[in-house]
Amino acid sequence: MNVLFATSELYPLIKTGGLADVSYSLPLAMSALDKNITIVLPGYRSVIDQLGPTKKEFVFNDLYLRSDVTLQQHQLPSSNITLLLVCSESLFDREGGPYVDAEGNDWHDNADRFSQFCRAVVNLLNPLESPYPISFDLVHCNDWQTGLVPAFVALYGFDVKSVFTIHNLAYQGVFDRACYDYLSLPPQWWSYEYLEFYDNFSFLKAGVVFSDWVTTVSPTYAREILHEPLACGMSGLLKHYQHKLVGILNGADYEVWNPQTDPHIKFHYSAQNLENKTKNKLDLQRQLGLRLSKSAPLVGAVSRLVHQKGMDWLVETIQNLQDEKVQWVILGSGDPQIENQLLELARANPKTVSVTVGYNETLAHQIEAGSDLFVMPSRYEPCGLNQIYSLRYGTLPIVRATGGLIDTVVDVDEDSIKQETCTGFVFEVQTTQALQEAVCRAIAFFSRRKAWNKIQQTAMKQNFDWGHSAQSYIELYQQAGKPL
Ligand code: ADP
Ligand code: GLC
Repeated sequence: MNVLFATSELYPLIKTGGLADVSYSLPLAMSALDKNITIVLPGYRSVIDQLGPTKKEFVFNDLYLRSDVTLQQHQLPSSNITLLLVCSESLFDREGGPYVDAEGNDWHDNADRFSQFCRAVVNLLNPLESPYPISFDLVHCNDWQTGLVPAFVALYGFDVKSVFTIHNLAYQGVFDRACYDYLSLPPQWWSYEYLEFYDNFSFLKAGVVFSDWVTTVSPTYAREILHEPLACGMSGLLKHYQHKLVGILNGADYEVWNPQTDPHIKFHYSAQNLENKTKNKLDLQRQLGLRLSKSAPLVGAVSRLVHQKGMDWLVETIQNLQDEKVQWVILGSGDPQIENQLLELARANPKTVSVTVGYNETLAHQIEAGSDLFVMPSRYEPCGLNQIYSLRYGTLPIVRATGGLIDTVVDVDEDSIKQETCTGFVFEVQTTQALQEAVCRAIAFFSRRKAWNKIQQTAMKQNFDWGHSAQSYIELYQQAGKPL
């Protein structure tokens, strides 16, 4: 079976969040299991710059595609996976992010950009007229940017199965009627059963309605999105399609996130050699200008600084705990108000709070390695990857009980201590106070060195590698199409 994996982000070439990590690791895990998988991505300028020129270029013959849309064939760096780029000077050859411009505003033509991407992908699935010499049996789509693909596959009646993965239901690709007309989408799709969504239309809804399987990135999130508010207005739709909705937990790429080999950190370590973890902590404190201290608990966060991630609660918690010995290292970007509040806290407390606004892969790894605790107070979290990385780095996660966080972290309580199953600190209630109590509980534990060390050992043993999740996707593909 030939699988085409369509995505709008791909580590290490273009990344705004976990989608990029998944789009890299899942195909690699599939290919390690001897499955044929090809990735297709928009040809953003920065990606083409990184990959360099290719002689393998194909042209489309589709009146619905702009004349400058072409296909380039590359190789995903350090792998045997083919990477196809849908290139277009007018749509993707620009400075800025995949979805937003340099000022952080959505590109005004996002609907156009991603509908053209979808139409190009559908051309590759056309059994008779694809410009590309290999044919595909199944397309695996990810998030709203690829939502129109299953819809067109159904419209044209191609014998190609489709899986649509929701990484975050809050981003639905919603646009208005004028945009719908501009994109020349079929008139019959403007109906509540198809794409129409509260007088607008949604790319994501198209993916849900028309694909053979809908997946979410954790089992708990698959259940949570059947109900408001986490359904984001789609509870009726998702209940209707519940029979084809499954949650498959993301994995972690332990080649990239491994404290024993991580090229970004100075001192490699394992569960048997945690003194080196402390050296990384001191190094991080030194590098960021924090007070050097082994005994002060250091709490890290690497995150998009947005409402979803509960960063407003974190700001207040940091403020409220300034009398404690605890130190904070935050890396992220997002909501300017939260960025400014955090920067202000760092200015006022330079020895205990460090805030770096921006995107920094190396620092992200150093924070995982150097922190004692890693905080993710998300309001909702479809899966979350950093808590999984944290477990492997012996950096105990403090998480809210939602989505993939609750599927991967076991709270410290009397029972779990006895059974040696606990790996972190979980809180339920959506308030600053609840987060603060969880942090205080974690800090109190930190001083109990022996108990702490035991939890670290358990955390570091957890195995969320991609092999297992890839196997679940393969089983799903098999049920959607011909046997592999
Ligand atoms: P989401 O996709 O919702 O942002 P995830 O936890 O699934 O959340 O994935 C986030 C990924 O992005 C992780 O690999 C994390 O390390 C990375 N990341 C987020 N913000 C930054 C940043 N400012 N610098 C470096 N890496 C970041
Ligand atoms: C989304 C979600 C995050 C998930 C990631 C990868 O960005 O917010 O929870 O881990 O996708 O699936």
